[in-house]
Amino acid sequence: MTDIDQLQADLLAAIAGAPGLEGLEACRVHALGKQGVVTGLLKTLGGMSPDERQVQGPRIQALRTAVTDAIADRKAMMERAGLEARLATETLDLSLPTGGIGGGSVHPVSQVMDELAEIFADLGFAVATGPEIEDDWHNFTALNIPDAHPARAMHDTFYFDKADGEGRKMLLRTHTSPVQIRTMVTTPPPIRIIAPGRTYRSDSDATHTPMFHQVEGLVIDKGITLGHLKWTLETFVKAFFERDDIVLRQRPSYFPFTEPSVEIDVGYTLIKGKRVIGGTEPDGWMEILGSGMVHPKVIAACGLDPAVWQGFAFGCGIDRLAMLKYGMDDLRAFFDGDLRWLRHYGFAALDVPTLSGGVGA
Ligand code: DAH
Repeated sequence: MTDIDQLQADLLAAIAGAPGLEGLEACRVHALGKQGVVTGLLKTLGGMSPDERQVQGPRIQALRTAVTDAIADRKAMMERAGLEARLATETLDLSLPTGGIGGGSVHPVSQVMDELAEIFADLGFAVATGPEIEDDWHNFTALNIPDAHPARAMHDTFYFDKADGEGRKMLLRTHTSPVQIRTMVTTPPPIRIIAPGRTYRSDSDATHTPMFHQVEGLVIDKGITLGHLKWTLETFVKAFFERDDIVLRQRPSYFPFTEPSVEIDVGYTLIKGKRVIGGTEPDGWMEILGSGMVHPKVIAACGLDPAVWQGFAFGCGIDRLAMLKYGMDDLRAFFDGDLRWLRHYGFAALDVPTLSGGVGA
């Protein structure tokens, strides 16, 4: 055995026998540190004749690689063993009663989503979903928002650096409206869906967070009119706020994907300075959603004949609905994960909303 082979055997034995991370570190310094034995050998290469270096160079380099690899392997093994030992002592008994920790609760946003699904299921609507990472065709183009349209900037969109395989820009969806497109492209009409989910815009203050929730509604059928839209929204708002004295006001508006477009306000009554939704003679109006008749261009973009199929659509902020119904005033607290807030505003896990049992608290 040559000196180098012997040295390698000794070093590998020391590494294999190192009792812990500290011992292993000592092996590393001994072999590869500034004054280390392998480092010393590497330094001798400079003083060798070219012939000698050609023979010794690869051998010394191989020694260094073998030692470096052995140390890395042993270190990974020790760390894994350490983690396993820790996990073994830190077991959680999931069968213990939760009394001391406090039970979990259903977030008001989840609760409201369940309420929406329940109310609209009763009207014959299915729940549809779409991806949160969208392309700009579904999020903008097919919704009649052309390339240069200010709405693309207006929405404060989070774009990704890379386009998809078809060269479409990728983004975090700025609204749930692309689910309209995805549904019309894949599902033959008649269509009746709601699409609740997360949406994203670069915006942040007491009433705006970069991630928020919307629910989209879409009906496509023959002979659909604004009257159907009005009745549907009235029925929904009454069921949601659980009172019949709800007055809605329709205001003309503009969205590229609807024509005509209508914003819907709900009447509120002032009680001790607080706005409470409802009252047949409202003290004021609060905007709750955008809606309208689906633009013929949107229907055509999805491959349907707008001369045959018409429909209405609406889009509504879920977080705001929750705030209006359950009385929170700062949206940011929704997403702080503060247990005190969750305990106060959360719902019991088995408090599943049903129309017969009440969709309220
Ligand atoms: N997508 C709109 C927004 O995020 C909301 C909206 C308005 C949706 C009108 C609709 C609609 O479906 O018809 O501001």
